[in-house]
Amino acid sequence: MIEETPVPLVDLDRLDRNLDRMAAYARGHNLHLRPHTKTHKSPRIAAEQMARGAVGLTCATLLEAEVMAEVSHDLLLAYPPVGDSKLQRLMALPESAEITVALDSAAVIEKLVDAARQHGRRVGVLVELDVGMRRIGLPGLEEAVRLARLVAAHPPLVYRGIAFYPGHIRQHISGQAAELERLSRAVQAAVESFDQAGVRPEIVSGGSTPTIWNTHEIGGVTEIRPGTYAYNDRITAQLGACDWNDCALTILATVVSTAVPGQAVIDAGSKALGREPAENQGDGYGALLDRPEVVVRRLSEEHGVLDLADTSWRPAVGDQVRVVPNHVCIAVHLHEMVYGIRGDRLEAAWPVKARGRRPLAASLGV
Ligand SMILES: Cc1ncc(COP(=O)(O)O)c(C=O)c1O
Repeated sequence: MIEETPVPLVDLDRLDRNLDRMAAYARGHNLHLRPHTKTHKSPRIAAEQMARGAVGLTCATLLEAEVMAEVSHDLLLAYPPVGDSKLQRLMALPESAEITVALDSAAVIEKLVDAARQHGRRVGVLVELDVGMRRIGLPGLEEAVRLARLVAAHPPLVYRGIAFYPGHIRQHISGQAAELERLSRAVQAAVESFDQAGVRPEIVSGGSTPTIWNTHEIGGVTEIRPGTYAYNDRITAQLGACDWNDCALTILATVVSTAVPGQAVIDAGSKALGREPAENQGDGYGALLDRPEVVVRRLSEEHGVLDLADTSWRPAVGDQVRVVPNHVCIAVHLHEMVYGIRGDRLEAAWPVKARGRRPLAASLGV
């Protein structure tokens, strides 16, 4: 079907099913769905998410926002834009795009106000809270309320609500109850504090793929931002947030050596799969779609070593295999194109258009 490997293949039926399932979940629980586009970085899939009822899209980089403005007029930059060049790129997004930024500092607010005033542009703001990940977001509600008031006092910024990301909840879904309860109490307490302070959040934006199916139980959430769910991956399956046969994206690879007994070497190394650890440390860097017991045990840049210890299967040089990567967002970002298949038929190909970070303007003119 495809000779030149390694390449990412997307099973289009699985992709459709994943997108449908999430859209139905959001609809069924009256939650707005704003998918994170960092997983696919592709306007083609973003358009499919919009067609299924997404209210808008989430982006982490300015390039994602520039590319996704092609398919949505409602963009959330869930990342603080620090530095003039990023602020200028934000302001240069099409006039038709309603933009919202999640941030956690007065320093970013001050620069954002200047840029927004200079361009006469309304910019929505969500105040980012830390709910346990200890990455970005304010851990204290007093400080968070203070930022919300600061935003509200500085048009054309528009205070819209709060954002959080529960990336610290990484247990199997069957063991998440206590963490989710803690999270729910924290979000509810935040909403109440903001409300009492006169800055009631109209938007409460959260949600990760591993916790997604219980997000409706988190008090006060109005919007969910899952990303990984579109393709799913080995880690998501290990956490129980999807089934193995929901993994839509695999890396097609070719066996290039069986010289060393007990292993087979494929042409997908860290530059095709990413070097992301599995949920259990030491559990390799991916597994074969049709034989999940066969794990990519070691990686060089262009070599992946399949461990044959747990299988009687013995591949030959030239055989092709499909590897489910541990973390699909990283694997996608390593490839220029993605190929859509239905059964054995190659049906579509599309660029990973928002990969990289290049300013679009520079790439056009220079
Ligand atoms: C701020 C933010 N929101 C949403 C997401 C999407 O989460 P997931 O990849 O678990 O679907 C991410 C993922 O990194 C994120 O950083």
